[in-house]
Amino acid sequence: MPLPALYLSRMLPPPVMTILKDRFRLTGEPAATPPARGQIMEGLREAQAAICTLTERIDREVLDVAPHLRVIANYAVGYDNIDLEAAKAKGIVVANTPDVLTEATADLTWALLLALARRVPEGHWLVQQGAWTGWEPTQLLGAEVSGKTLGIIGMGRIGQAVARRALGFNMPVLYSSHRAVGQPSQGQSWRRVSLEELLSSSDFISLHVPLTPETHHLIGANELKLMRPTAYLINTARGPIIDEAALVEALREGRLAGAGLDVYEQEPALHAGLRSLTQVVTLPHLGSATLGTRVRMGLVCIENVQAVLEGRPAPNRLY
Ligand code: GLV
Ligand code: GLV
Repeated sequence: MPLPALYLSRMLPPPVMTILKDRFRLTGEPAATPPARGQIMEGLREAQAAICTLTERIDREVLDVAPHLRVIANYAVGYDNIDLEAAKAKGIVVANTPDVLTEATADLTWALLLALARRVPEGHWLVQQGAWTGWEPTQLLGAEVSGKTLGIIGMGRIGQAVARRALGFNMPVLYSSHRAVGQPSQGQSWRRVSLEELLSSSDFISLHVPLTPETHHLIGANELKLMRPTAYLINTARGPIIDEAALVEALREGRLAGAGLDVYEQEPALHAGLRSLTQVVTLPHLGSATLGTRVRMGLVCIENVQAVLEGRPAPNRLY
């Protein structure tokens, strides 16, 4: 039996590549950098299945050139890069990779929070550049973390994993979410509040909603005005949830203390105003970037693809 034809947009970690090459015929070479639209269309032309990433926009026009396509596995939990309606209309199953990246993304959220509060990048560069002249009582003073209030916008799997970690920092958790979630077991307090109350009452605010038309620019000029001037904003979800221009203005005017960003409105471009501010920590979209997580994400994609090709329900289908 010929192997099923699979379009793989990007090179995945070696253990995943070994399985993929064993079980599928790849319709082209996976790209080293985000593939151009033409390359995506070329790769999909014969494909029965696709594994793509968040840098590939899969819309109606792209799907129109893929008559044999039965399943798209997105190598991400977010799926704003795929036009679900268009896929559904063509009977193409779309699946994502929830669960396997929850803990890694929550860890990175805390890495950003702590780096920002305690000025880790500034300290690193001071030492690296040989500019450190010795311990000083007033050098690089940062913000307290322990005991402060953590505000979580979007209390899904990742939001809850971030909230659980607040236990060790003795931080009360406020959250805003469409629905209430169960209390954690270990005597932590999670309190559901309105977005307005969360913004005005939290010391650290972390975003964990998916990007949808409703959450685009969820944090804009008006929301930033509600934040305390001592508060920090962290985003490991999707860039366009924050109005970056409004964020830059608020940071410049000292209306919030800082921002920790893993995602951007126009990735990989950085808003010029975010380049020159010391109260900003920027990472290159690393939320799920551990080897173990990226391998598990690959295995989940393979499982979903195989399920559809073998006529079984895809475990992580989105509709
Ligand atoms: C990464 O951003 C993801 O959605 O998995
Ligand atoms: C969504 O990103 C979730 O898994 O919480």
